[in-house]
Amino acid sequence: MSAPDELTPALTLAGECGPGISVEDAVVLLSAGELSIEGRVMDASNASFYCAVTDGAQTAACVYKPVAGERPLWDFPDGTLAEREVAAYEVSAATGWGIVPPTVYREGPAGPGMVQLWIDVDDEIDIRRFMRRRDLERLRHIAVFDAVINNSDRKGGHLLPTPRGDVYGIDHGVTFSVDDKLRTVLWQWAGARLRPDAVAVLAQLRADLDAELGERLEQLLTRREVRQTRWRVENLLANGRHPEPSGDWPPVPWPPI
Ligand SMILES: Nc1ncnc2c1ncn2[C@@H]1O[C@H](COP(=O)(O)OP(=O)(O)O)[C@@H](O)[C@H]1O
Ligand SMILES: [Mg+2]
Repeated sequence: MSAPDELTPALTLAGECGPGISVEDAVVLLSAGELSIEGRVMDASNASFYCAVTDGAQTAACVYKPVAGERPLWDFPDGTLAEREVAAYEVSAATGWGIVPPTVYREGPAGPGMVQLWIDVDDEIDIRRFMRRRDLERLRHIAVFDAVINNSDRKGGHLLPTPRGDVYGIDHGVTFSVDDKLRTVLWQWAGARLRPDAVAVLAQLRADLDAELGERLEQLLTRREVRQTRWRVENLLANGRHPEPSGDWPPVPWPPI
């Protein structure tokens, strides 16, 4: 889905926002700017709103998912999805991969929720083919990231390829369960050896989880969920391989797009 032109947020490169705005500035704008609802995102399973966030002359498009609009789920505690989305952003930022667009937790017109920078996608890309590609380092990084956050909903539609060739990952509400729930369309590297760059990132993540990142995540998740995240990182490093489907959980989300 593309945003109206005047609100194009221009996040153009991983870890860097477009003209005039850095990731840090985007986080400040999303946190402190005035949020106005422009419309409802219709293909969302929870109440998600397409918004403008404005602070002085600076404006950006974003998505706002209020906690009050979260559909109850049998396998995740009520009212925790927005915090899981922010936790996923924190992990993504710590990896340096910048997979998740800047995301914050804040008050909004429908109460507290998550607010995330809107990414304009390349509508020409056939996502069914795209998500099966094995030659994209970016997708491979996302596969590792999903293993870390225990993502149970990596559909094709939650991959956002941009016209500049970047790829972002969105919709991380059902993540960080203490049970193995990895459900993804990105199994093309199952069982393959982790690349050295991924190993280096995981080793740094392990250190970060023992320090400030761990503390930040404890504001958003339970202690057990944070410990289990640390354990998943440890386990990936010990195995040195991408995970394989466990066999006791459908490994691909339905529908896959
Ligand atoms: N940050 C974003 N940038 C661009 N599009 C987004 C963003 N977040 C959500 N969307 C669009 O809104 C749709 C629904 O959002 P999603 O995060 O999947 O919500 P839900 O949690 O309800 O499933 C996505 O499929 C995508 O098209
Ligand atoms: Mg979704």
